[in-house]
Amino acid sequence: MGIYQEQILPILINFSMRQKNLAACRRRVVPAAQGRVLEIGIGSGLNLPFYSPTVQQVIGLDPSPKLLAMARRTERPGSGKVEFVEGSAEESGCHLNRAIGVLIEGASFQFDRLETGYMRGPKPMTFMYEGSARPR
Ligand SMILES: C[S@@+](CC[C@H](N)C(=O)[O-])C[C@H]1O[C@@H](n2cnc3c(N)ncnc32)[C@H](O)[C@@H]1O
Repeated sequence: MGIYQEQILPILINFSMRQKNLAACRRRVVPAAQGRVLEIGIGSGLNLPFYSPTVQQVIGLDPSPKLLAMARRTERPGSGKVEFVEGSAEESGCHLNRAIGVLIEGASFQFDRLETGYMRGPKPMTFMYEGSARPR
């Protein structure tokens, strides 16, 4: 990995994920997670404070050691035990380059709801999927 991927990109990701309108989305979505949670691409751990105290465990996967170091420092009053794993989804057998429906249902979940749309901001970077699914 070069300096851009190792040092600069993680700072840009952390900065862009701190937008205020994302915090509203985190408050809406993250507390609904239950049981053992696998957060693919945990980044700097900004979802951690929003997990319910009833979540048994959060496994935070990310390929960036720098972002994982930031995530380890994030306050997480509600998220119980957190395990950080350095690696990509693909290395764990989950290929992200698929339609979201195929990805979630292929992992034996069924959707309760799935909404899509753009948030405020530059179009290519703000397309969002929001919803919930449960094990089949
Ligand atoms: C848009 S950020 C979201 C970070 C965090 N979930 C949040 O809400 O603040 C996407 C994250 O996915 C990670 N990522 C990128 N490719 C990945 C892959 N193939 N497998 C797992 N994580 C990946 C990036 O390093 C980055 O931290």
